[in-house]
Amino acid sequence: MPYADIHTRSITERDAFWMEQAQAIDWVQPPSKALFDDHAPLYEWFVDGQVNTCYNALDRHVQAGRGDQVAVIHDSPVTDTRAKITYAEMRERVAKLAGALAAQGVGMGDRVVIYMPMVPEALVAMLACARIGAIHSVVFGGFASAELAKRIDDAKPCAIIAASCGIEPGRVVHYKPLLDGAIDMAAHKPDFCVIFQRPQERAALIPGRDHDWEAFQADAAPADCVPVPGNHPAYILYTSGTTGQPKGVVRATAGHLVALAWTMKNLYNVHPGEVFWTASDVGWVVGHSYICYGPLIHGATTIVFEGKPVGTPDAGTFWRVIEDYGVTSFFTAPTAFRAIKREDPKGELVREYDLSSLRALFMAGERADPDTIHWAQDKLGVPVIDHWWQTETGWAIAGNPMGLEPLPVKVGSPSVPMPGYDVQILDEAGHPLPAGELGAIAIRLPLPPGTLPTLWNAEARFRKSYLEHFPGYYETGDAGYLDEDGYVYIMARTDDVINVAGHRLSTGGMEEVLASHPDVGECAVIGVADPLKGQLPLGLLCLNKGVERDPAEVVAECVKLVRDRIGPVAAFRHAAVVDRLPKTRSGKILRATMVKIADGETPPVPATIDDPAILDEIAAALEPLGFAKGR
Ligand code: COA
Ligand code: AMP
Repeated sequence: MPYADIHTRSITERDAFWMEQAQAIDWVQPPSKALFDDHAPLYEWFVDGQVNTCYNALDRHVQAGRGDQVAVIHDSPVTDTRAKITYAEMRERVAKLAGALAAQGVGMGDRVVIYMPMVPEALVAMLACARIGAIHSVVFGGFASAELAKRIDDAKPCAIIAASCGIEPGRVVHYKPLLDGAIDMAAHKPDFCVIFQRPQERAALIPGRDHDWEAFQADAAPADCVPVPGNHPAYILYTSGTTGQPKGVVRATAGHLVALAWTMKNLYNVHPGEVFWTASDVGWVVGHSYICYGPLIHGATTIVFEGKPVGTPDAGTFWRVIEDYGVTSFFTAPTAFRAIKREDPKGELVREYDLSSLRALFMAGERADPDTIHWAQDKLGVPVIDHWWQTETGWAIAGNPMGLEPLPVKVGSPSVPMPGYDVQILDEAGHPLPAGELGAIAIRLPLPPGTLPTLWNAEARFRKSYLEHFPGYYETGDAGYLDEDGYVYIMARTDDVINVAGHRLSTGGMEEVLASHPDVGECAVIGVADPLKGQLPLGLLCLNKGVERDPAEVVAECVKLVRDRIGPVAAFRHAAVVDRLPKTRSGKILRATMVKIADGETPPVPATIDDPAILDEIAAALEPLGFAKGR
């Protein structure tokens, strides 16, 4: 069936469509229907089904005779190691860890925080939780202790599974001391921790609390898969909102399975047994869906890549991995390609490798700029498919269904809505806008399976953040338009979220940290354009009256403060001390105007501005930092 008919049917015959897709999953008890709408505008999917994610990701493939097929490849240029793990071996490892967790009393609904770098053990830990109905919450390694502590206090895990260390080019990330610091800071304490000791840095274990990964499971009896109801949370994944308190996106089990299974063939055009590679991190939603769950549910081979697009050891690493393992579909963030293009503009390293296995390149996580898409298309000679999604949705809202019906690529657009997504552009009053007009992008409820049913322990925040502004719709937080052919164009965020190297960050969260500096009276953080990372955070600081210190010293302390409190991933390096911030007469800081100034534009002076002279002061303060050029 062509894409257009499938999309229409997914909206007009919602239940029948998703019940058909649900057949790709092995159920312990099949659901009686797809959509449960009795609590609208809160919706749930496949609620009365009984199912297990780990069974669908591992056991069923072993039972079907795929036990010897490679499930997970670990390729780690930063530690110079490579390993392959078959489906049978993966099932054995996962069942053992699950058994050890169960023996400690971890069971259905208990939370387990996972804080690990790109090692296969991270997937083993995620799947072990899924096996026994525990709810995992993976925390990205680039966050500092304080961020980890916030997540511990919100999720209240009974256990934390961590690695001793991670490896970034040129430095070891001390996971275990960061974890210890977080547990000290958090009000909630886990019952125990399991530490995967890496040879690069072995961690000191705290007797009575910490277990060594190997010893912990040495004598464990393997655990069986525990059936869970369709709406049981598979995981919680925290993401940035407008404040420093991250939002705990809940992923319900059954919808997650059904939606990801649909995408593997229809969107990514991958067949069971083929190699699907996502170069991201298990700490992000892209890593959850397409390093761990999607490829395994589908019976494909996934790659856990512990390296960078450049510098590990060079800009040819991605091509080497594609050649070595015969990757058919490759997914990464545009920023990775910008990094490669900068190092190897002519694509000379591309020509050194055999990329004939590759059928398509997928990009997401941030806006894919046309230059980067053209470069990738030209050098790799395969379709480059932009697709748009969010932590909240767990899978693409818009994309190009390469395995169903490849549609013409329009550079600058992530193509068309995926099944179940009724994408609308709304004006401020919530009225749908015609093609070509810019507005807030919203999705008419219900969202399809696999998307968030709520926020962890925060239903009121869920309603307020996503459902209240436009009743009957989910508010994406992105602005853009639809063209005459129904292609979506994503132009900007409508909130204080910025996207730095494909990492989603809250400027509000950074402002909270800066405001805690004793000399800072008032501050603003804005996202400015950066040719490599897409956006970079830039701070503007007003010092308290009477502070006579060297502004450079305060800036350096503020940079350190953000790194210590939020983490290196915030990439906060630039700040300027200014006398005052531009505001409206009602006192609202004019952040969007400052963004334009920093990007070198000359924005119209807002009619509501308190004092227009401040705009020139801001430009003058930013120029020495290399911003606001060409005004
Ligand atoms: N653990 C600990 N620290 C991490 C980390 C991790 N998993 N990931 C990144 N960091 C650190 C980096 O080492 C860097 O630290 P530094 O300030 O000491 O140099 C800092 O966080 C900023 O990282 P990043 O913004 O990623 O910049 P970079 O200069 O290290 O690398 C790219 C630039 C483009 C190569 C890199 O951003 C990249 O590969 N991006 C791919 C994007 C991606 O995977 N996005 C996921 C969503 S799809
Ligand atoms: P995250 O939740 O970290 O995946 O970030 C989601 C946000 O990243 C979206 O709301 C968009 O602002 C942005 N984003 C993701 N994919 C794309 C894309 N293909 N084009 C433009 N922006 C994107």
